[in-house]
Amino acid sequence: MVVSMKTILKNGYCVISDDKNQTSISPLDISIENGRILEISQNLESPNAKIIDCKNLMILPGLIDTQVHFREPGLTHKEDLHHGSLGAIFGGITAFFEMPNTKPNTITPADIQNKVSIAEKNSFCDFGFFLGACAENRSLIAEYENTPGCCGVKIFMGSSTGSLLVDNDEDLEAVLKSGVRRVSVHCEDEKRLIERKSTLNSNPNVSLHPLWRDEETALIATQRIVTLAKRHKRKIHVLHLTTKQEVLWLKDNKHHNEIEDLITCEVTPQHLTLAAPDCYDQLGTLAQMNPPIRNQDHQDELWKAVHNKTIDVVGSDHAPHTLQEKSNPYPSSPSGMTGVQTTVPLLLDHVHNKRLTLERLVDLMAHRPAKIFNMKDRGHIQKGFLANFTVVDLKKEMTITNEWIKSKSQWTPFHNKKVIGCPIHTIINGEPVVSYNQLVSPEFRGRAVEFN
Ligand code: DOR
Repeated sequence: MVVSMKTILKNGYCVISDDKNQTSISPLDISIENGRILEISQNLESPNAKIIDCKNLMILPGLIDTQVHFREPGLTHKEDLHHGSLGAIFGGITAFFEMPNTKPNTITPADIQNKVSIAEKNSFCDFGFFLGACAENRSLIAEYENTPGCCGVKIFMGSSTGSLLVDNDEDLEAVLKSGVRRVSVHCEDEKRLIERKSTLNSNPNVSLHPLWRDEETALIATQRIVTLAKRHKRKIHVLHLTTKQEVLWLKDNKHHNEIEDLITCEVTPQHLTLAAPDCYDQLGTLAQMNPPIRNQDHQDELWKAVHNKTIDVVGSDHAPHTLQEKSNPYPSSPSGMTGVQTTVPLLLDHVHNKRLTLERLVDLMAHRPAKIFNMKDRGHIQKGFLANFTVVDLKKEMTITNEWIKSKSQWTPFHNKKVIGCPIHTIINGEPVVSYNQLVSPEFRGRAVEFN
C-alpha cells in the first residue's frame, strides 16, 4: 500500500549518514511522496502537504528485526502474523524476517509463498521469510532461495523448538555449497547437547539451562560453521551470540580478506539486558531460551563486542510460547520469549544509560541489517529510499507491561520494567501506522522486502 499525498516530517532530528558512511544527527525535514523519500533539507514547506510534527523527536531509518518467530502456519495458538506484526509496529519495527520452524517447516518455495500470501493480508509491516535448510532440500537451496519474499536461509545446528536440524558436516557443506544468499545459523552443537542433557538428571531446574547448553556447546558450533563458511566462501550470519568465548574468537576470526562481511553476527536485547542467576531466580522458565541467558561476565563481553563492532546486528529472537506452556516443569517448558515489541524501548533505555549511542543503535538495526542482507532501498534516510521511519522520543519514560504486549502470548520478561526512551511514530512506506501508542492506520498492510 503506497500513500500518494505529500507528507513532511518537520522539526525533528534525523540520524543520517553521508557518502562516506559517517553517521550524524542533524535538524532536517523530510518530504515523502509515493511511499519514498523525496527531499531531505532544512525548513521544507509545501502548501498541501500533510505535516507530521517531530519536534523534540529523533527520526531514525525504519528499524528492522532480522529474527522473529511468528508461528504461522500451524502454531497460531502462540502467535500469528497479525499479532506478531502488530507488536512489531507498536515497538517501532518497520520490517521483520521470520524464522522457518513453523508447522509445516518452511522448506519449499510453496511454504514461503503461503507465508507471503498470509502476510500480504495480515501483516502491519514489511516482511521477509527464511527458507529452513534440512537434509531433504540441501541441494535445492540455490533454486529455492530466490522465491520472492525469501530473506535468506536458516540452519539450526542444534535442536531447539521444532524439528529443523542440520547437524553433520556433510549436510552443512551441501547447504553452504548450494546458493549464494546469507545463511543465518543457530549455533549450538547437537552432539554435545545430547551428551550433556544428563546434567539435568539429579535436579532439573531452569537455572541449570546454561549449564546443560554450556559455553562450549555454543563455541564448538560457531567455530565449525565459520570454518565451513570460509572454506566455501558462503556468507553466514551467526545468530544470538551468548558467550565471551564466541565473541573473543570471532573478533580475531570473522574477517576474511577476499569477501567483505563473509561472517556477520547478531545479539539479542535480552542477552544484553538480563543475566543469570538473577533472571532465573526472578523469572523462572520465562527466562528460558536457546542459547541461554548467561552470567554478567558474558553479558559484559557481549557489550564490548557491540562496541568494537564484532557484533553487527541486534535482533529480538521474538519466540513466543503461551504462559500455560511456559508453566510446564523444566525442562518440558519450551524455550523462547517475546521480544519484537520491547527491543527498541530496551535499546533506547541503554542509550539513555550511555551503554549505547543512538548512532550505533541505528547501525545495528538499520544500516547493518540492510547491508548484510542486501535489502533494496532500506536502512538509510536517503533520497529515493523507501519512506520507512522509526521516530523516537529519547526522554519519554514508559513502563513495559504484559498488557501493552500485542503478541498472542501476551507476556514479556520485562513486565513492569521502566525505560527511558520509546517509539512515537512508526512510518512504513510513507504511512504512519502507529502514533503515540495508537494504531492509526488499521487497514495498512506491509509488503515483501526486496533484495538487490
Ligand atoms: O529459545 C528459542 N526459541 N530459541 C530458538 O532458537 C527457537 C525459539 C523458538 O522457536 O521457540
